[in-house]
Amino acid sequence: MKTTDFSKVAQVYDRNPFRFEKLEMDMDVRNFINNHPKSTYKLLDLACGTGIYLQHQLSSFKNYNMDWYGLDASQDMLDKAKEKLEDVVFNHGRAENMPYEDETFDIITNYYAFHHFTEKEKVLDDIHRVLKKNGVYKLHNINIYGMKNWWLYHYFPAALLEDYKRFWTHEVIFRELSLRGFEVKTECIYQMEHIKAADYIGHIENRDISVLTLIADEEYNQGFNRMKYDLKRNPEHKILNDFSEMVCIAEKK
Ligand SMILES: C[S@@+](CC[C@H](N)C(=O)[O-])C[C@H]1O[C@@H](n2cnc3c(N)ncnc32)[C@H](O)[C@@H]1O
Repeated sequence: MKTTDFSKVAQVYDRNPFRFEKLEMDMDVRNFINNHPKSTYKLLDLACGTGIYLQHQLSSFKNYNMDWYGLDASQDMLDKAKEKLEDVVFNHGRAENMPYEDETFDIITNYYAFHHFTEKEKVLDDIHRVLKKNGVYKLHNINIYGMKNWWLYHYFPAALLEDYKRFWTHEVIFRELSLRGFEVKTECIYQMEHIKAADYIGHIENRDISVLTLIADEEYNQGFNRMKYDLKRNPEHKILNDFSEMVCIAEKK
């Protein structure tokens, strides 16, 4: 599979307003805390990127006793996260080989990053290693196998082929976690609607969605021109769009 160069994406990543939507207290983390009363909790946000998730959770959980950690393989993404957050221990490293002792964390969260891991089995092994017994791993990601009509694939069909190489299905994720001794629950959320193409053209210009960095410039320009053509003919142009997200909660037994 191809990999995204996040040193380039880091400069534009936070310009995408969709990344800041629906960010509220992580109820899965709160449920874990309610069900496992302790004096303090260690939470690692794996592949934390520019720290968007951590920023929101730190303020949501300010009345809880939490130690916050963020790990990422891109120094440029981490530098952006450090600009936002002081009370987080940030580490530069790979999810496949994390710089932590065995059984360090109560909670590991992992948002919109699992498809980037080139050695996914190794990552799951290492998550199992650094989680405490009864600790929880929360994997949240888009579920590309449930969104063949995504607006992005409509204009950039080559992106779907790249994504098939990077993403595991939710069934494979469920099986691989179960095989490692996790008790797993998975939920897929699905939505279909007509959207205005004009609301999405900014994403194309920004080129911060990782799969757009993996397709050839020629394919990117073709899709961009098709979208501009549709909008020139009709600024209100609408397209069918579907979107699916997967949340997987895995407890280490
Ligand atoms: C799409 S971003 C998601 C960032 C953040 N979790 C969010 O929701 O905004 C994917 C992140 O995964 C990181 N990443 C990719 N491969 C990695 C690896 N093997 N180990 C750790 N981080 C990795 C990238 O550097 C990037 O910051």
